[in-house]
Amino acid sequence: MKVLVKVENLSLKIGDRVILKDVSFEVYDGEIFTILGGSGSGKTTITKCIVGLYRPTAGRVEVFGKDISKLNQIELDQIRRNIGYVFQGAALFDSLKVWENVVFYHLEHGKMKEEELKSLALQCLSMVGLSERELELFPSELSGGMRKRVGIARAIATQPTLIIYDEPTSGLDPITSRLIDELILSLRNRTGSTAIVVSHDLVSAFSISDRILVLREGEVLQVGTKEEILNSHIPFVREFIKKGLGDLQDARRG
Ligand SMILES: Nc1ncnc2c1ncn2[C@@H]1O[C@H](COP(=O)(O)OP(=O)(O)O)[C@@H](O)[C@H]1O
Ligand SMILES: [Mg+2]
Repeated sequence: MKVLVKVENLSLKIGDRVILKDVSFEVYDGEIFTILGGSGSGKTTITKCIVGLYRPTAGRVEVFGKDISKLNQIELDQIRRNIGYVFQGAALFDSLKVWENVVFYHLEHGKMKEEELKSLALQCLSMVGLSERELELFPSELSGGMRKRVGIARAIATQPTLIIYDEPTSGLDPITSRLIDELILSLRNRTGSTAIVVSHDLVSAFSISDRILVLREGEVLQVGTKEEILNSHIPFVREFIKKGLGDLQDARRG
């Protein structure tokens, strides 16, 4: 299987705080890979290492076959152009309209005309279940679920090979969360893009992932398929799942 992201013995210290300890995993082309762990366990930090925002204290991170810490700025920009990042809380620009948010990268870097940009924005918005109606609105005029969708539309506007979703369902009600899950799945199925999803939402993790990594205090406890994680012999993993299982059963009933 083709490996898109390879993290090898990654450790990260900030000041004298150890944030990540000897983290290793691989993400395969086309899969949905979820990093699951409690708040503060280091999930977002791992994704920041993947996009080269943090340099490892030890170990290495390879993206699309290239060692991230050995790249110059131009090479790093090239890699980043192929990664869509959906920020925690959507992180839209409040002073820009929806369409300007979606094609922000092209507004900054491209030479496309306004009609072309709007048409690209509309294309991306329709991929996430939004339409012309939202084009000229400002983020403050949208619901939480719609804002997440706009954040996802922005991430796919550059046709990335890899999309990183940081807590895509946090702050959303269960019904909207499941719609976002379906969207992540359908985008992968339609575009073949690989996804790394950061989450503490067990329901979401077990409904969309091909494989799951369980992280605790900066350390990998287990990487495996849903079945392997569900049948884990590791006490913390079992406990973590048991606690979230109530939600899982509620979601199945609901
Ligand atoms: N720039 C930083 N400086 C110091 N500590 C940080 C920094 N970034 C993250 N941390 C700490 O690292 C830990 C992991 O953070 P984070 O990756 O954001 O966790 P998660 O995304 O799993 O909630 C937390 O304890 C956080 O306080
Ligand atoms: Mg986080």
